[in-house]
Amino acid sequence: MKKFAIVLLLAIAATSLSVAQDIKIGGIGPVTGEAATFGVSTKNGMTLAVEEWNAKGGVFGGRKVKLIFEDDKGDPAESATVYTKLIQQDGVVAIVGTVMSKCTLAGAPICQAAGIPMITPASTNEKVTQVGDYIYRACFIDPFQGTVGATFAFKNLNVKSAAAIFDLGNDYTKGLAENFKLTFEKLGGKVVAYEGYPTGVTDFKAQLTKIVAAKPEVLYIPDYYNDVGLIAKQARELGFKGPMVGGDGWDSPDLVKIGGKAVENGYFTNHYSPDDTRPAVQDFVKKYTAKFGQKPDALAAQAYDAMYIMLDAIKRAGSTKGTVIRDALAKTNIDVVSGNIKFDANRNPIKAAVIIEIKDGKQVYKATVKP
Ligand code: PHE
Repeated sequence: MKKFAIVLLLAIAATSLSVAQDIKIGGIGPVTGEAATFGVSTKNGMTLAVEEWNAKGGVFGGRKVKLIFEDDKGDPAESATVYTKLIQQDGVVAIVGTVMSKCTLAGAPICQAAGIPMITPASTNEKVTQVGDYIYRACFIDPFQGTVGATFAFKNLNVKSAAAIFDLGNDYTKGLAENFKLTFEKLGGKVVAYEGYPTGVTDFKAQLTKIVAAKPEVLYIPDYYNDVGLIAKQARELGFKGPMVGGDGWDSPDLVKIGGKAVENGYFTNHYSPDDTRPAVQDFVKKYTAKFGQKPDALAAQAYDAMYIMLDAIKRAGSTKGTVIRDALAKTNIDVVSGNIKFDANRNPIKAAVIIEIKDGKQVYKATVKP
């Protein structure tokens, strides 16, 4: 009886040893809340990437990926909660997320303190990777994005005066407005009105009335699509007829649903366009559309890429140790959908931006701008 029990125990031990353990990766995005389309696309992009890695046999040593995805609801406090939950409760070895800079800024210090490598697919605020050496991103930063927007307005739209309206409580929109203003003025343009509004308001008429009175030729609106749709509508109601320019936060199928005709003559800077003819892009668009029944937006592409970058680092590390993954991330050199990724000393990749026009309710690719 005793001998039997020992044999049985040995057998159980042997089986559990021979089954490679899954590698747990945390994913985070705003699946609900003010920017819910961002989270849905982000989750889809990560899911597709993980499926592809698992179909190829996993990351290393036959170990597959288990993606544990959480919703931060677009809220920094909720974001801190899910970062902590993924690390402490689930024991993830790395995190891919989150999307809105204000939420990523709440999560990054938690990863840094815990020694858990993190890559945000789409948070562009400069401060995010400054949190520490475990924090990476797969996208360009707002000093570049704001410069591209301002240069496009000044040179391509050929306007000499601008106004900007931004969310006072949001690092992303505040930062983009600042960067736009800096470049627009450096080019010789004039910023005739610069108005902030508190987070959460839906009536922007007080700020817009001042803006319209200053007679700018272009209006810069660096916010997420919900607010942009409302601001554009109210600006048109108050008589503003000129072009509007914004950032990646415009990228949602809901922008034209909310803004309607008001967002025509609108342009925004973004990470990628599904109309890019490069084979890597078209291959991704095909796979994603087949699986999700919808063309991938920039959030989907960025999330897919970010997951690839993280899994490639873990594969090269051949380890799930935080320090080893972190050092492997630093040596990244990989071709993904959005191009080749290498990190600079601040853990940011150097990437081009695209300019998209809203025309007849559709996104039309205009140009690619290299750094
Ligand atoms: N860049 C935005 C931020 O930092 C997030 C975002 C990325 C939104 C891409 C839309 C598309 O908050």
